[in-house]
Amino acid sequence: IVAIALSAIISYLLGSISFSIIFTKMFEKKDIRTMGSGNAGMTNVLRSAGIKPGLLTIFCDFGKGILSCFIGIQIFAALLGSGTELARYGVYIAGIACVLGHMFPFYFGFRGGKGVLTTAAVLLMIYPPLIAVDFSLFLVIAIISKYVSLGSVIAASTFPLWGWMFNYFLLFRTGQVSLTYMTITTLLLCFLSVCIDIRHRGNISRLIHGTEKKFSLHHGSH
Ligand code: G3P
Repeated sequence: IVAIALSAIISYLLGSISFSIIFTKMFEKKDIRTMGSGNAGMTNVLRSAGIKPGLLTIFCDFGKGILSCFIGIQIFAALLGSGTELARYGVYIAGIACVLGHMFPFYFGFRGGKGVLTTAAVLLMIYPPLIAVDFSLFLVIAIISKYVSLGSVIAASTFPLWGWMFNYFLLFRTGQVSLTYMTITTLLLCFLSVCIDIRHRGNISRLIHGTEKKFSLHHGSH
């Protein structure tokens, strides 16, 4: 309980640092949530504020996901013994708390982003091949369709399956973890996936109605 609470709180507070809001305010003196799609995330910063704040947002929103997972892994290992099955949950608890912080940031009126980039960092920390598969899928769909949101929704909806496969073949089949671990981690990944899809409900309805904006880069002073 202590390990869960400690990693979840630290990661939630870290995830709450919404870099898209911070960098857009620095570069454009405006709130990203009043620009473009209104979303506090990478795509909208690139679209509405420019490449410099966009790249900084990518770097920092991804970085906070990595850092949170790293902290969660350390806390769980210190309190529950490194190498134990219980310690393996650290990355999931911290990762999910960080993404929830990004979506509902404590410091910014609980109005944040959709959690795609931060989730990518969490998947990287769970298993690097997991993000390789999921990011490739995202890229192919986003490039072909030119809709970042379509790539995000499909990648977000499928990563529980990739996660399940990696856990099953790498850990469960080799006897490193129990069926309980398999079940809980799959449920946690499904929860994260549903959260991202719910945050994209506006995009999904625009995609269905053909009114979603294709990807564009802001051409301004930045
Ligand atoms: O990562 C968010 C992306 O999937 C959609 O962003 O700004 O087009 O709603 P946006």
